Amino acid sequence: LLTGLNAIAAASQGDAEEAPGTPMNILYGSQSGNAEALSKDLRKFAKSQGFEANVSELDGVDPADLAAMSHVLIVCSTFGEGEPPDNARSFYDALMTGAIGELPSSLNFSVCGLGDSSYAYFNKCAQDLDAKLAELGATRVHDFVSCDVAFEDDYADWKKAAFESEAFVSAAGAVSGAVEPEEPGPKFDKNSPFLATLMVAENLSGDKSAKRVNHIEISLAGGTQELDYAVGDALGVWPTNCATEVQELLAVTGLNGRESVQLKAGPASLRAALLTKLDIATVNAKTLETWGLEAGADDQQVIDLLKSSDKAIDAQTLVDGLRPLQPRLYSIASSPKAHPGEVHLTVGEVHYELHGSARKGVASTFLGGRLNAGGTVGVYLQRSAHFHIPANDDAPLIMIGPGTGIAPFRAFLEEREARSAAGKNWLFFGDQHEAEDFLYRDQISAWQASGLLNNLSLAWSRDTAEKIYVQTLIKKQGAEFFAWLEEGGYIYICGDASRMASDVDKALREVIAEHGGLDDVGTQAYMDKLVAEHRYQRDVY
Ligand code: 2AM
Repeated sequence: LLTGLNAIAAASQGDAEEAPGTPMNILYGSQSGNAEALSKDLRKFAKSQGFEANVSELDGVDPADLAAMSHVLIVCSTFGEGEPPDNARSFYDALMTGAIGELPSSLNFSVCGLGDSSYAYFNKCAQDLDAKLAELGATRVHDFVSCDVAFEDDYADWKKAAFESEAFVSAAGAVSGAVEPEEPGPKFDKNSPFLATLMVAENLSGDKSAKRVNHIEISLAGGTQELDYAVGDALGVWPTNCATEVQELLAVTGLNGRESVQLKAGPASLRAALLTKLDIATVNAKTLETWGLEAGADDQQVIDLLKSSDKAIDAQTLVDGLRPLQPRLYSIASSPKAHPGEVHLTVGEVHYELHGSARKGVASTFLGGRLNAGGTVGVYLQRSAHFHIPANDDAPLIMIGPGTGIAPFRAFLEEREARSAAGKNWLFFGDQHEAEDFLYRDQISAWQASGLLNNLSLAWSRDTAEKIYVQTLIKKQGAEFFAWLEEGGYIYICGDASRMASDVDKALREVIAEHGGLDDVGTQAYMDKLVAEHRYQRDVY
């Protein structure tokens, strides 16, 4: 392998086509796919700068290999309570325990974090990686950058600065003559969504349910094949805010909405900006700073915060303190083979009470109520980095998805039905009450009758004195569960990350230990093997 200097020397001798550039390692940790998409952008840019760029998920490298790398860029998100994404977990754990010893100063790196400033552990994981690499002796070529949900500008600044650092500029090679073909990137993306049409929004929950879950059908007619999705992918949805809430906000500030304000995209009326461009709920540090306010312990909501203050805020200052409105990602609930030209979602409406006021989620209530059938909604595809149905139609599938976690499994089962896949299917589903919360009951029952679903395990948590959860049934049917794994079965989990997914993980370990006759070390090795073979995949939030 040529070193950077040799590569440049070779290039100057006139055989630029043959000379590989300085190797660069672009590593990402991605849960919803943003970090992965950015790593591809970095790769393209690195190539244009003459680097021999190589992209990998963080778990695709061993931290011990870092010592041999010279130019490393890391983009990583943080998830839940400051945890690494699923495809960065083992790298993170290995690096943080410090088992790899010192790193050489010849390792030049920079880290970009993707996070959400309304969470307590904002960008913790990426920040930990950045601090640890420096502590172990590697050279930080540009400071850690912490991106919020609207990450594009901060990411672009970070990229520019990292490539302008001395260590990167001096290693940039002669650009090889062979120009890489443009990747056919999606024409419809987060910032240029496809305007799709809502066809159906139908309540799936019973009248007495504590929840309201809606089945949403969106037509992609008029779109292009760039909207062709696979089961396991997610759909990004751009909502608009509730007009009543916008009115409430205007009333609190004493503004009338016709004021003209300046947004990054250009001028707009205040009302239009509040309806379609700004997050009118989230308060963060910038909000308080811009408005010159101090938050009380329970002023995390924009309207509540403004109500508790008598400070006059003009239209532009109001707008400057709000974050941009963001799209929401939903796991796709349909197979394109079963519903060509359509995409379906399973969306639980978010309603909660804060300081005595009823509040609601923006996108879930937009899809479930404010958007009328025939109305348009901006959407884009977020292809999944790590949640895929196996190509092998004979592999047994075990799908664990209580509540709205059912979404991708409706898609998987539709897909397997359309493919006439021979492999066995086992669905674990549940919620509070069978009579109220059995989402897609008719379709699931029909699959049971047709034999597509070999096993159906239903956990109703509030129908009996004792709570029954999906993991209760996994343990109860542990022998059969383990037998499916031994036959090469795949485990999929979708839904609540903080409680359900971690409790299910514990149950899996118990089942494997008991029925495999394994101790802790053996159980961990069994789990590691499942992960390595992509037979344990999670879509949790
Ligand atoms: P519960 O609210 O009655 O306790 C979907 O929200 C379903 O997940 C509900 O039936 C809910 O039960 C259940 N649930 C709550 N905590 C859970 C956990 N730790 N593991 C699995 N399911 C859980």
